[in-house]
Amino acid sequence: MLVLGIETSCDETALAIVRYENGKPDTVGSISVIAERVSSQIPVHQLYGGVVPEIAAREHLRSLPLLLNDILTEASLSINEIDGIAVTQGPGLKGALLMGFSFAKGVAAAANKPLVGVNHIEGHLLSPLLSHSALDFPFLGLVVSGGHTELVEANAPGDYRIVSRTMDDAAGEAFDKAAALLGFDYPGGAALSRAAEGVTSSRFVLPRVMLERAGMSFSGLKTAVAQLVRREWDGLDKACCAELSFTIEQTIVEVLVRKTLEALSQRSLSRVAVAGGVAANRGLRLGLERALREKNLPPPFFAEKRYCTDNAVMIALVGACRLAAGERLASRASVLSRWPIEEMRRPG
Ligand code: KG4
Ligand code: ZN
Repeated sequence: MLVLGIETSCDETALAIVRYENGKPDTVGSISVIAERVSSQIPVHQLYGGVVPEIAAREHLRSLPLLLNDILTEASLSINEIDGIAVTQGPGLKGALLMGFSFAKGVAAAANKPLVGVNHIEGHLLSPLLSHSALDFPFLGLVVSGGHTELVEANAPGDYRIVSRTMDDAAGEAFDKAAALLGFDYPGGAALSRAAEGVTSSRFVLPRVMLERAGMSFSGLKTAVAQLVRREWDGLDKACCAELSFTIEQTIVEVLVRKTLEALSQRSLSRVAVAGGVAANRGLRLGLERALREKNLPPPFFAEKRYCTDNAVMIALVGACRLAAGERLASRASVLSRWPIEEMRRPG
């Protein structure tokens, strides 16, 4: 089955065409990617220090037809040869979601193709399956993106229970806010991590209050970093900035690793899959691998770097599995800017 995936929940316009093969019961099946495009709007939003929702929506509107044309040409396919369309329905920025959603509805109606709405977080959660055939349900999913930080018990496709989530800033947001204070352009997570590379120790300490709480929280981190930056302002050269970056990364990683270990033992799970933009973080990869090794648990399954950040391949995977089970978007359905993953149901 050939499926077109469309993603516009935030600041990346992404499209993909994949070939889907059904799997055994209680698996999501597998896909091969035929063509994909991600058009990032980051340079546009960087001017404002963060995503401007209206601009994001307008950029999606402009890019969608161009990208669809591009991938169909690359795949040497016409829209009539596509068997179904999967589009991100939520959660995300309402205006941005609406652009992809209306576009998908239009294409599906014009070409008379089945359409399904996909939960963006489910896309992230299942994205490690794209590259790891050894990853089976049940597993613990750590979704760490710009807007969400969630630990999810994934029992089967569509059967998810939240173990914990951040009530305030997500890990990506915590990285980006701290990075902004150090002068990195939005979104500064990756740049902060690069600055920290090679640093092995630091004289700075950040409070770990978030470790004491039952849930997950990064509140307090931004204030603590702001205070440190103010204190060190006169000597905030490259070396000092690298040292601070290292401390910030270590602090966020420590919280994520500790909460992941707690969740594994709480739910008697052994496999961990990590996805979302922050899953690309080197410190998190090394820290989680080491922590699991020390507990004699299997190594974590990280989403491939190019599928950590927003993409349409993960949307196509989830959508294809749901389309194959006969799921269809209700005609009156609209986008859902809030759509908790525990509200998902098994495909069909
Ligand atoms: O999943 P994603 O592309 O978008 C959302 O759905 O939110 O995640 C983007 C987030 C940003 O906050 C970005 O700074 C962060 O992921 N990120 C990183 C790294 N690469 C991306 N944070 C830390 N280290 C990285 N290497
Ligand atoms: Zn995302």
